[in-house]
Amino acid sequence: MHNISIPNNWNTALYQDKHAFVWQYGEDLLKFLNPKPGESILDLGCGTGQLTEKIAQAGAEVMGVDHAATMIEKARQNYPHIRFDVADARNFQVDKPLDAVFSNAVLHWVKEADSAIASIHQALKPGGRFVTEFGGKGNIQAIVKALYSALESIGIPQAQVENPWYYPSIGGYATLLEQQGFDVIYSSLFARPTPLADAEAGMANWIQMFASSFLTGLSHEQQIQIIRVVEEYLKPTLYQQGTWRADYRRIRIIAIKL
Ligand code: BEZ
Repeated sequence: MHNISIPNNWNTALYQDKHAFVWQYGEDLLKFLNPKPGESILDLGCGTGQLTEKIAQAGAEVMGVDHAATMIEKARQNYPHIRFDVADARNFQVDKPLDAVFSNAVLHWVKEADSAIASIHQALKPGGRFVTEFGGKGNIQAIVKALYSALESIGIPQAQVENPWYYPSIGGYATLLEQQGFDVIYSSLFARPTPLADAEAGMANWIQMFASSFLTGLSHEQQIQIIRVVEEYLKPTLYQQGTWRADYRRIRIIAIKL
């Protein structure tokens, strides 16, 4: 596999415990999905299954898939009555065309957006909807800049570190969808500064959970140093009254298969 950098060895306990904001904000997106009893829906990148379960509660026939086997294992433990499978956003297939594909906080990990859109398109019935939210243009710009600066301060140039994320603009992403046979009926890009759990340790935990690719190959001491430098850079802008906030910007899209 190439060009996909989503970690597949997530620490699911840490994810469920400290990063609950991922699906808590996703509940808002469920209003856009508006699942109905009897509809067939795929939750693409379901993580530990919390939103999949909400979709099931609405009476839909839902299935959750995730790239990470650890997430799927945990999701099955959490919600044994729901079907969960390991699958790749870029090439998954479904048995029967679906009414909707839902995806929260996942597609910024999939740089091959065209392949993901093609898979989603072929998974839907004509008229089926794709409802998604993920990191959009400018997402965590300050954090990424601080990570690169901190690495440069210990002699590692930016060119040596691959940014693992894909943060499209509305124009860019809508164009990809239209090119592959979707009508984009809703789109929005908005800032959502997101409070991180764990007070002072919040940024360090976030980096270890989500940005570990920036620390690959460094000794433990160097990793600690990078995190400290990043914290120093970001403290004036992203740390207030004992809480770190990540500078998230979200893109939200509803698209209909023609
Ligand atoms: C996000 O939800 O925007 C995000 C999460 C983890 C890493 C990078 C971005």
